[in-house]
Amino acid sequence: KIYRSALLRFADDGTPLYDSDGLLAIAPDAQGQERVVAAGSWQALHAEYAAQANAHILHLPGKLLAPGFVDMHIHYPQTDVLGAPADGLLPWLEHYTFPHEARFHDRSYADGVAEFFLDELLRNGVTTSLTFATSHSASVDAIMAAAQARGMRMLAGKVLQDRHSPDGVRDHTEQGLIDTETLIQRWHGVDRLGYAITPRFAPTSTPEQLRGAGALAAKYPDVWVHSHVSENLDEIRWVRELYPEARSYLDVYQRFGLMRERAVYAHCIWLDDIDRALMRETQTAAAISPTSNLFLSSGYFDYLKADAAGFRYGLASDVGGGMSFSPFRTMQAAYVVGREQHSKQGLSLKPGHLWWQHTAGAAKALGLGGVIGNLQPGCEADMVVINPAYTPLLARKTAQAQTLDELLFAMIVLGDDRLIEQTIISQAK
Ligand code: GUN
Ligand code: FE
Repeated sequence: KIYRSALLRFADDGTPLYDSDGLLAIAPDAQGQERVVAAGSWQALHAEYAAQANAHILHLPGKLLAPGFVDMHIHYPQTDVLGAPADGLLPWLEHYTFPHEARFHDRSYADGVAEFFLDELLRNGVTTSLTFATSHSASVDAIMAAAQARGMRMLAGKVLQDRHSPDGVRDHTEQGLIDTETLIQRWHGVDRLGYAITPRFAPTSTPEQLRGAGALAAKYPDVWVHSHVSENLDEIRWVRELYPEARSYLDVYQRFGLMRERAVYAHCIWLDDIDRALMRETQTAAAISPTSNLFLSSGYFDYLKADAAGFRYGLASDVGGGMSFSPFRTMQAAYVVGREQHSKQGLSLKPGHLWWQHTAGAAKALGLGGVIGNLQPGCEADMVVINPAYTPLLARKTAQAQTLDELLFAMIVLGDDRLIEQTIISQAK
């Protein structure tokens, strides 16, 4: 398949690369999975790829072909909790989230939400997410089976929470770990699926459960680890009471062997410099969730300190704490949060950098750099067709754009799900 369209992709260092008249060539690899074979300007590549008599050219005039978005942290069971009013994180969990998640012991209920959730991801141009399920194995089976049927690269895991959680969502220390291992064996590496060991957060797991989670993380090094850290000051005080021996909230996870490559922690707002150095040394990644942080008034992610420490990060919606499935809304909020946190230092996150954080940068943070989140040769062909002129205002703004930054920023500020004309998942044989 040959596409002729405007084309957005990223260099290894994160620089956005743009061809206003681009060519993207897609072909199945030896296993039958569609991957990018060539990407660049039509002028430079068409003789080699598009001139053959049998070449099938899909011409998309006026459209932009870009990598599918990668959402580093989301809760599929909270699709219906999005927008629930509450006074911050802990009341929101108690009054809305836990009662709702209790319903996911029922496989058919979970199936219904999983299908809606995946439809919503695709409508918004998100082709991969790292998602929490609930503490019920059935909730994992539901999302994995639904993603498998659609051929999506999806990462998910059963939530571990054996204390400070109500009946209906609380699991048992040992059984939760046994179920986790069973689910790893059932789903990890099957087609494009990946498993994530998912302790909810330190307050809702006993030390025994976290120790067991760390043992599984060591036994299965290519499985993901997924949790929350340093989101909210009340939560941090609670962790200090529960784990007085730990130097910091993040240090709880380090002590139990839960920091390593492919470990992803949502929020990372209230880290200190020692925590940040530990993030980098262990190659642990942060999932930045700005619409959630604004909704729950949790705080602002510190981009300057993150970059100074040099740890990996990317963007996430954190639905249902987050306010939108749309990567455009998340990138817009990340921009605002960056300004709010750093206005004295004059920081403005660059449009290409915001977009990278939700595509190639997120993929890199997940340990999937060069696999998803980009349209460079070798990448799996998950992509979006963007219509940069879907409203009169956007048509004007994008037509007036003189630079790539102006074009991308117009979409970040004005964009939503309507920008996504089509989401294309790499086909497998
Ligand atoms: N911390 C523990 N559980 C949750 C959750 O479901 N959402 C958010 N935003 N933070 C959490
Ligand atoms: Fe979350």
